[in-house]
Amino acid sequence: MAATGLVALALHLLMALLNGVTGDLLQRVEVPLFAFVGGRVNVSCMYDLRATGLYSLKWYHNDTEFYRYVPTETHRPVDIKPTIKFQAHEISRTETLVTLSITSMTTAASGEYKCEVIAEHPSFRTETRSAFMTVLDEPLSPPMIVGAREVYESEDDIKLRCQPEKFPASGPTPSITWYLQGRPARREYVSPYRDEPYAEPAGATLHVPASQVPRVGGSVEAECLLKLGSFEVRSSRTLRVRVRPSSYLSSYFSAAEMMSRPALSTLLVVGIVVLVRWNI
Ligand SMILES: *[C@@H]1O[C@H](CO)[C@@H](O)[C@H](O)[C@H]1NC(C)=O
Ligand SMILES: *[C@@H]1O[C@H](CO)[C@@H](O)[C@H](O)[C@H]1NC(C)=O
Repeated sequence: MAATGLVALALHLLMALLNGVTGDLLQRVEVPLFAFVGGRVNVSCMYDLRATGLYSLKWYHNDTEFYRYVPTETHRPVDIKPTIKFQAHEISRTETLVTLSITSMTTAASGEYKCEVIAEHPSFRTETRSAFMTVLDEPLSPPMIVGAREVYESEDDIKLRCQPEKFPASGPTPSITWYLQGRPARREYVSPYRDEPYAEPAGATLHVPASQVPRVGGSVEAECLLKLGSFEVRSSRTLRVRVRPSSYLSSYFSAAEMMSRPALSTLLVVGIVVLVRWNI
Protein backbone atom coordinates (compact mmCIF):
# COMPACT_ATOMS: atom_id res chain seq x y z
CA MET A 1 0.00 0.00 0.00
CA ALA A 2 2.75 2.39 1.02
CA ALA A 3 4.69 1.52 -2.14
CA THR A 4 1.71 2.31 -4.36
CA GLY A 5 1.29 5.60 -2.56
CA LEU A 6 4.92 6.47 -3.21
CA VAL A 7 4.65 5.57 -6.89
CA ALA A 8 1.54 7.71 -7.19
CA LEU A 9 3.32 10.59 -5.50
CA ALA A 10 6.36 10.19 -7.77
CA LEU A 11 4.10 10.13 -10.84
CA HIS A 12 2.32 13.20 -9.61
CA LEU A 13 5.60 15.03 -9.11
CA LEU A 14 6.82 13.93 -12.53
CA MET A 15 3.63 15.23 -14.16
CA ALA A 16 3.95 18.53 -12.34
CA LEU A 17 7.55 18.78 -13.47
CA LEU A 18 6.71 17.92 -17.08
CA ASN A 19 3.88 20.38 -17.02
CA GLY A 20 6.37 23.01 -16.03
CA VAL A 21 8.79 22.32 -18.85
CA THR A 22 6.62 21.33 -21.81
CA GLY A 23 6.87 24.62 -23.63
CA ASP A 24 5.44 27.97 -22.74
CA LEU A 25 1.80 28.77 -23.13
CA LEU A 26 2.71 32.40 -22.95
CA GLN A 27 5.61 33.14 -25.20
CA ARG A 28 6.23 36.84 -25.08
CA VAL A 29 4.88 40.24 -24.17
CA GLU A 30 5.90 43.31 -26.08
CA VAL A 31 5.63 46.57 -24.19
CA PRO A 32 7.69 49.63 -25.09
CA LEU A 33 10.17 50.77 -22.45
CA PHE A 34 8.72 54.25 -22.40
CA ALA A 35 6.08 56.52 -23.84
CA PHE A 36 5.06 60.16 -23.52
CA VAL A 37 2.02 61.64 -21.83
CA GLY A 38 -0.86 61.79 -24.29
CA GLY A 39 0.91 59.42 -26.65
CA ARG A 40 -0.05 56.01 -27.92
CA VAL A 41 1.71 52.66 -27.83
CA ASN A 42 0.88 49.08 -28.71
CA VAL A 43 1.27 46.22 -26.28
CA SER A 44 1.17 42.60 -27.44
CA CYS A 45 0.85 39.23 -25.80
CA MET A 46 1.95 36.17 -27.79
CA TYR A 47 0.76 32.77 -26.76
CA ASP A 48 0.80 29.21 -28.03
CA LEU A 49 -1.90 26.75 -27.04
CA ARG A 50 -1.11 23.83 -29.34
CA ALA A 51 -2.02 21.18 -26.81
CA THR A 52 -4.96 22.86 -25.12
CA GLY A 53 -7.56 25.57 -25.58
CA LEU A 54 -7.57 29.08 -24.17
CA TYR A 55 -9.69 29.69 -21.13
CA SER A 56 -8.79 33.34 -20.69
CA LEU A 57 -6.27 36.00 -21.55
CA LYS A 58 -6.03 39.05 -19.32
CA TRP A 59 -3.96 42.22 -19.14
CA TYR A 60 -3.15 43.89 -15.85
CA HIS A 61 -1.65 47.27 -15.08
CA ASN A 62 0.06 47.25 -11.66
CA ASP A 63 -2.05 44.20 -10.84
CA THR A 64 -5.33 45.89 -11.80
CA GLU A 65 -7.09 44.03 -14.60
CA PHE A 66 -8.06 46.21 -17.56
CA TYR A 67 -8.61 43.69 -20.36
CA ARG A 68 -10.04 40.23 -20.45
CA TYR A 69 -10.74 37.84 -23.30
CA VAL A 70 -12.74 34.72 -22.41
CA PRO A 71 -13.71 32.85 -25.61
CA THR A 72 -16.44 30.86 -23.84
CA GLU A 73 -18.25 34.04 -22.82
CA THR A 74 -20.49 34.09 -25.85
CA HIS A 75 -22.20 37.36 -24.97
CA ARG A 76 -19.12 39.36 -24.25
CA PRO A 77 -15.88 37.54 -24.94
CA VAL A 78 -13.88 40.77 -24.68
CA ASP A 79 -14.26 43.08 -21.72
CA ILE A 80 -12.22 46.25 -21.33
CA LYS A 81 -12.42 48.11 -18.05
CA PRO A 82 -12.20 51.89 -18.34
CA THR A 83 -9.49 53.58 -16.30
CA ILE A 84 -8.46 57.22 -15.94
CA LYS A 85 -4.78 56.29 -16.38
CA PHE A 86 -5.12 55.47 -20.10
CA GLN A 87 -7.54 54.11 -22.67
CA ALA A 88 -7.15 50.60 -24.02
CA HIS A 89 -8.51 49.31 -27.33
CA GLU A 90 -8.10 45.92 -28.89
CA ILE A 91 -6.50 46.33 -32.30
CA SER A 92 -6.01 42.68 -33.21
CA ARG A 93 -6.74 39.25 -31.82
CA THR A 94 -5.71 35.94 -33.39
CA GLU A 95 -5.12 32.38 -32.17
CA THR A 96 -1.63 33.37 -31.04
CA LEU A 97 -1.54 37.10 -30.47
CA VAL A 98 -3.54 39.84 -28.81
CA THR A 99 -2.48 43.43 -29.46
CA LEU A 100 -3.91 46.40 -27.62
CA SER A 101 -3.49 50.06 -28.31
CA ILE A 102 -2.95 52.20 -25.22
CA THR A 103 -3.82 55.86 -25.74
CA SER A 104 -4.44 59.06 -23.72
CA MET A 105 -1.72 58.05 -21.29
CA THR A 106 -1.08 59.96 -18.10
CA THR A 107 2.11 59.54 -16.05
CA ALA A 108 0.10 57.13 -13.87
CA ALA A 109 0.10 54.79 -16.88
CA SER A 110 3.72 54.06 -15.96
CA GLY A 111 4.21 50.73 -14.33
CA GLU A 112 3.94 47.04 -14.91
CA TYR A 113 1.96 45.64 -17.84
CA LYS A 114 1.27 41.98 -17.28
CA CYS A 115 -0.37 39.44 -19.54
CA GLU A 116 -1.89 36.32 -18.04
CA VAL A 117 -2.94 33.26 -20.03
CA ILE A 118 -5.01 30.45 -18.54
CA ALA A 119 -5.44 27.15 -20.37
CA GLU A 120 -8.77 25.36 -20.55
CA HIS A 121 -10.13 22.72 -18.25
CA PRO A 122 -8.77 20.42 -16.93
CA SER A 123 -5.32 21.88 -16.42
CA PHE A 124 -6.19 25.60 -16.01
CA ARG A 125 -2.46 26.08 -16.30
CA THR A 126 -1.67 29.73 -15.72
CA GLU A 127 1.27 31.71 -17.02
CA THR A 128 2.10 35.38 -16.80
CA ARG A 129 4.69 37.66 -18.29
CA SER A 130 5.16 41.33 -17.73
CA ALA A 131 7.21 44.35 -18.68
CA PHE A 132 7.59 47.85 -17.34
CA MET A 133 6.80 51.01 -19.22
CA THR A 134 7.70 54.52 -18.10
CA VAL A 135 5.50 57.36 -19.28
CA LEU A 136 7.59 60.54 -19.48
CA ASP A 137 5.75 63.78 -18.89
CA GLU A 138 7.62 65.86 -21.45
CA PRO A 139 8.35 65.28 -25.10
CA LEU A 140 12.01 64.89 -26.10
CA SER A 141 13.70 68.22 -26.74
CA PRO A 142 16.46 68.58 -29.31
CA PRO A 143 19.91 67.81 -27.88
CA MET A 144 22.38 70.54 -26.87
CA ILE A 145 25.56 70.95 -28.85
CA VAL A 146 28.27 72.43 -26.66
CA GLY A 147 31.64 73.85 -27.68
CA ALA A 148 31.06 74.86 -31.31
CA ARG A 149 33.01 77.86 -32.66
CA GLU A 150 32.21 80.12 -35.59
CA VAL A 151 35.36 79.37 -37.55
CA TYR A 152 38.30 77.05 -37.04
CA GLU A 153 41.85 77.20 -38.30
CA SER A 154 43.05 74.11 -40.08
CA GLU A 155 45.45 73.19 -37.29
CA ASP A 156 42.63 73.27 -34.68
CA ASP A 157 40.93 70.34 -33.13
CA ILE A 158 37.17 70.48 -33.47
CA LYS A 159 35.63 69.17 -30.31
CA LEU A 160 31.87 69.25 -29.82
CA ARG A 161 29.74 67.67 -27.20
CA CYS A 162 26.18 66.56 -27.67
CA GLN A 163 23.93 65.81 -24.74
CA PRO A 164 20.25 65.70 -23.86
CA GLU A 165 18.93 69.03 -22.61
CA LYS A 166 17.59 67.35 -19.51
CA PHE A 167 18.39 64.07 -17.93
CA PRO A 168 15.43 62.07 -16.79
CA ALA A 169 16.04 61.11 -13.17
CA SER A 170 15.05 57.58 -14.00
CA GLY A 171 13.90 55.62 -16.98
CA PRO A 172 15.51 54.94 -20.31
CA THR A 173 18.61 56.75 -21.56
CA PRO A 174 18.41 58.10 -25.09
CA SER A 175 21.05 57.06 -27.60
CA ILE A 176 23.19 59.74 -29.27
CA THR A 177 24.65 59.56 -32.77
CA TRP A 178 26.86 62.08 -34.54
CA TYR A 179 26.51 62.62 -38.29
CA LEU A 180 28.83 64.48 -40.66
CA GLN A 181 27.28 65.62 -43.94
CA GLY A 182 24.31 63.35 -43.28
CA ARG A 183 26.37 60.21 -42.69
CA PRO A 184 27.31 58.59 -39.38
CA ALA A 185 30.67 60.00 -38.32
CA ARG A 186 33.61 57.60 -38.29
CA ARG A 187 33.85 55.71 -35.05
CA GLU A 188 37.28 57.07 -34.08
CA TYR A 189 35.86 60.63 -34.12
CA VAL A 190 33.22 59.86 -31.50
CA SER A 191 33.62 59.02 -27.84
CA PRO A 192 31.22 58.81 -24.92
CA TYR A 193 31.15 61.84 -22.67
CA ARG A 194 31.01 61.28 -18.92
CA ASP A 195 30.55 63.80 -16.13
CA GLU A 196 32.35 61.57 -13.64
CA PRO A 197 34.68 58.67 -14.15
CA TYR A 198 32.13 55.99 -13.38
CA ALA A 199 28.92 57.70 -14.42
CA GLU A 200 26.86 56.46 -17.32
CA PRO A 201 27.73 58.26 -20.55
CA ALA A 202 25.93 61.61 -20.43
CA GLY A 203 26.49 62.45 -24.07
CA ALA A 204 28.83 61.95 -27.01
CA THR A 205 31.87 63.96 -28.01
CA LEU A 206 32.76 64.53 -31.64
CA HIS A 207 36.46 65.10 -32.11
CA VAL A 208 37.65 65.88 -35.63
CA PRO A 209 40.95 67.41 -36.71
CA ALA A 210 39.97 70.65 -38.47
CA SER A 211 42.51 69.79 -41.15
CA GLN A 212 40.00 67.23 -42.43
CA VAL A 213 37.36 69.84 -43.17
CA PRO A 214 39.05 71.81 -45.97
CA ARG A 215 38.96 68.60 -47.96
CA VAL A 216 35.15 68.78 -47.96
CA GLY A 217 35.31 72.37 -49.14
CA GLY A 218 35.83 74.28 -45.93
CA SER A 219 32.58 73.57 -44.22
CA VAL A 220 30.83 70.53 -42.92
CA GLU A 221 27.44 69.91 -41.37
CA ALA A 222 27.69 68.19 -38.00
CA GLU A 223 24.43 66.83 -36.73
CA CYS A 224 23.58 65.12 -33.47
CA LEU A 225 20.65 62.73 -33.26
CA LEU A 226 18.97 61.81 -30.01
CA LYS A 227 16.89 58.67 -30.17
CA LEU A 228 14.60 57.08 -27.63
CA GLY A 229 12.85 54.05 -29.10
CA SER A 230 10.96 55.36 -32.10
CA PHE A 231 11.33 59.02 -31.07
CA GLU A 232 14.05 61.12 -32.69
CA VAL A 233 15.15 64.73 -32.30
CA ARG A 234 18.23 66.41 -33.73
CA SER A 235 20.39 69.53 -33.65
CA SER A 236 23.11 70.60 -36.05
CA ARG A 237 25.99 73.02 -36.56
CA THR A 238 27.87 74.06 -39.64
CA LEU A 239 31.60 73.84 -38.98
CA ARG A 240 33.72 76.19 -41.03
CA VAL A 241 37.45 76.00 -41.38
CA ARG A 242 39.49 78.74 -43.01
CA VAL A 243 40.66 77.24 -46.25
CA ARG A 244 44.15 77.63 -47.59
CA PRO A 245 44.01 77.27 -51.36
CA SER A 246 46.78 74.72 -51.59
CA SER A 247 45.37 72.43 -48.91
CA TYR A 248 42.14 71.49 -50.59
CA LEU A 249 42.53 72.06 -54.32
CA SER A 250 44.53 68.91 -54.50
CA SER A 251 42.48 66.58 -52.40
CA TYR A 252 38.80 67.13 -51.85
CA PHE A 253 38.22 63.58 -53.00
CA SER A 254 39.79 62.26 -49.83
CA ALA A 255 36.87 63.75 -47.92
CA ALA A 256 35.69 60.16 -47.97
CA GLU A 257 37.87 59.75 -44.91
CA MET A 258 35.51 61.77 -42.72
CA MET A 259 32.38 59.76 -43.02
CA SER A 260 31.76 56.10 -42.72
CA ARG A 261 30.19 56.06 -46.19
CA PRO A 262 30.23 59.45 -47.91
CA ALA A 263 27.86 60.63 -50.60
CA LEU A 264 30.56 61.58 -53.07
CA SER A 265 28.19 63.49 -55.32
CA THR A 266 27.27 65.84 -52.45
CA LEU A 267 30.91 66.34 -51.62
CA LEU A 268 31.66 67.13 -55.24
CA VAL A 269 28.91 69.74 -55.33
CA VAL A 270 30.16 71.30 -52.10
CA GLY A 271 33.70 71.24 -53.46
CA ILE A 272 32.71 72.85 -56.75
CA VAL A 273 30.66 75.56 -55.06
CA VAL A 274 33.66 76.43 -52.92
CA LEU A 275 35.98 76.42 -55.93
CA VAL A 276 33.67 78.80 -57.79
CA ARG A 277 33.50 81.12 -54.76
CA TRP A 278 37.23 81.09 -54.42
CA ASN A 279 37.73 82.23 -58.02
CA ILE A 280 35.55 85.32 -57.60
C1 LIG B 1 -0.01 49.79 -33.50
O1 LIG B 1 -0.38 48.77 -34.39
C2 LIG B 1 -1.13 49.24 -35.50
C3 LIG B 1 -1.62 48.05 -36.29
O2 LIG B 1 -0.62 47.10 -36.47
C4 LIG B 1 -0.24 50.14 -36.33
O3 LIG B 1 -0.95 50.65 -37.44
C5 LIG B 1 0.21 51.30 -35.47
O4 LIG B 1 1.13 52.10 -36.19
C6 LIG B 1 0.88 50.78 -34.20
N1 LIG B 1 1.15 51.92 -33.35
C7 LIG B 1 2.31 52.12 -32.76
C8 LIG B 1 2.40 53.33 -31.90
O5 LIG B 1 3.26 51.36 -32.91
C1 LIG C 1 2.18 51.73 -11.10
O1 LIG C 1 3.46 51.46 -10.58
C2 LIG C 1 4.47 52.37 -10.94
C3 LIG C 1 5.79 51.94 -10.34
O2 LIG C 1 5.85 50.59 -10.10
C4 LIG C 1 4.11 53.77 -10.46
O3 LIG C 1 5.09 54.70 -10.92
C5 LIG C 1 2.77 54.17 -11.03
O4 LIG C 1 2.39 55.42 -10.52
C6 LIG C 1 1.73 53.12 -10.62
N1 LIG C 1 0.47 53.52 -11.21
C7 LIG C 1 -0.68 53.31 -10.61
C8 LIG C 1 -1.87 53.92 -11.25
O5 LIG C 1 -0.76 52.65 -9.60
